[in-house]
Amino acid sequence: MSQPLRLGIAGLGTVGIGTVKIIQKHAELLARRTGRPILISAVSARDRMKNRDADLSSYVWEEDPVRLATRKDVDVFVELMGGADGAAFDATRAAIAAGKDVVTANKAMLAHHGHTLAAQAEARGHVIRFEAAVAGGIPVVKALTEGLAGNAITRVMGVMNGTCNYILTRMESAGLAYAEVFEEARQLGYLEADPNLDVGGIDAGHKLSLLAAIAFGTRVAFDAVELEGIGRISIDDIRRAADMGFRIKLLGVAQMTGRGLEQRMSPCLVPAESPLGQLHGGTNMVVLEGDSVGQIVLRGAGAGAGPTASAVMSDVIEIARGCRISTFGQPADTLAEPVAAKAMAPAPFYLRMELTDKPGALAKVATILGEEGISIDRMRQYGHADASAPVLIVTHKTTREAIDHAARRLPGTGVVLGEPVAIRIESV
Ligand code: NAP
Ligand code: HSE
Repeated sequence: MSQPLRLGIAGLGTVGIGTVKIIQKHAELLARRTGRPILISAVSARDRMKNRDADLSSYVWEEDPVRLATRKDVDVFVELMGGADGAAFDATRAAIAAGKDVVTANKAMLAHHGHTLAAQAEARGHVIRFEAAVAGGIPVVKALTEGLAGNAITRVMGVMNGTCNYILTRMESAGLAYAEVFEEARQLGYLEADPNLDVGGIDAGHKLSLLAAIAFGTRVAFDAVELEGIGRISIDDIRRAADMGFRIKLLGVAQMTGRGLEQRMSPCLVPAESPLGQLHGGTNMVVLEGDSVGQIVLRGAGAGAGPTASAVMSDVIEIARGCRISTFGQPADTLAEPVAAKAMAPAPFYLRMELTDKPGALAKVATILGEEGISIDRMRQYGHADASAPVLIVTHKTTREAIDHAARRLPGTGVVLGEPVAIRIESV
């Protein structure tokens, strides 16, 4: 048997303890699969006195994650603290400078500093692996960098934030308003410390930008992701969309177009019977499209101790086996600077509005849509008790620009009350 692979684990929360438990439970299996023991030399977290539901007594405790990252008896620094900057970033840089390989679950850090860190690590002959950072237990990074490496990737798409998917599906199944389910999610401990990372689409945007870098051979461009969260999705939208055969998902799409790299993370309608439409609760789904393979659909737990630690261990095992794969699937210094393209591809849109119920009101709406070059595919007016009627329109393919322009003009007709809601319908 070869030399042991020695780990330093910084962060002993959900994912860190999940990782420790796998190493303890599967010591013999891991050694058999890699041909060498996988050992933990030292660990670090903020509060040494915290009860962590795992026996850590045989590991050295380091107060400072930077010291942990640079210890002589650490071959791989496993960063499971989180945060784009601060301790995670400092310790990761220190680990690279000290000549360690790095495994991390930290999508925020990589979305902001991934290219710099990868370039620094690769210049020293070391690797950074991040399977756990995207879609938890789903091996999507390995699918792109290994399984599909022979394909030109045409599109990456998916539901990558379990909390948002939980909120949207729970609103539909329980008939509850967004604010009620948001509170429920908070009480269940689903939300990040800053909930806007989840419901604002930022966390999912981080993940999409990392997949796009691998898929299209470009530097991570999180700032170019068009982001829209789920905060303005109402129970009415969910019900009306369901009536028309759709479900609302926080959907990420990245594709390389003739104009540049499109990356968007926004609420979309998908057909209720499609695989994405059938995705319930906190589960994630990533759809990958390659020129030779066609479409691949990966589905599984996007978060939680077991699934995320499973992904962390896949990276540790890869390193233990001697695989040296560049962070983004090709050397960092060969990644192109992407040209950011606005998502312009035409699509059908769902348009919901409150219409004054009087003669000629619908004609005024149809006129504005016609003037914007928007053609109506389907329309439904719902029964109502008061003077305004809920109206739902599904358009033929049009651009986001045309829909937004029409939506801004509609209240000026005097027959549309409040702001119309426009949501893209994605073909999946
Ligand atoms: P967590 O439960 O909040 O645990 C964070 C751990 O890091 C805690 O042990 C904490 O110490 C330690 N820590 C935080 N700041 C520190 C500092 N300045 N110095 C030393 N230790 C510090 O977080 P988590 O859910 O395990 O997430 C860890 C990483 O995995 C994050 O990057 C997250 O985005 C990512 N991730 C999580 C999941 C998931 O399902 N949870 C899924 C995918 C990816 P104390 O325990 O002493 O407070
Ligand atoms: N907050 C994230 C989610 C955790 O809900 O999917 C996993 O990255």
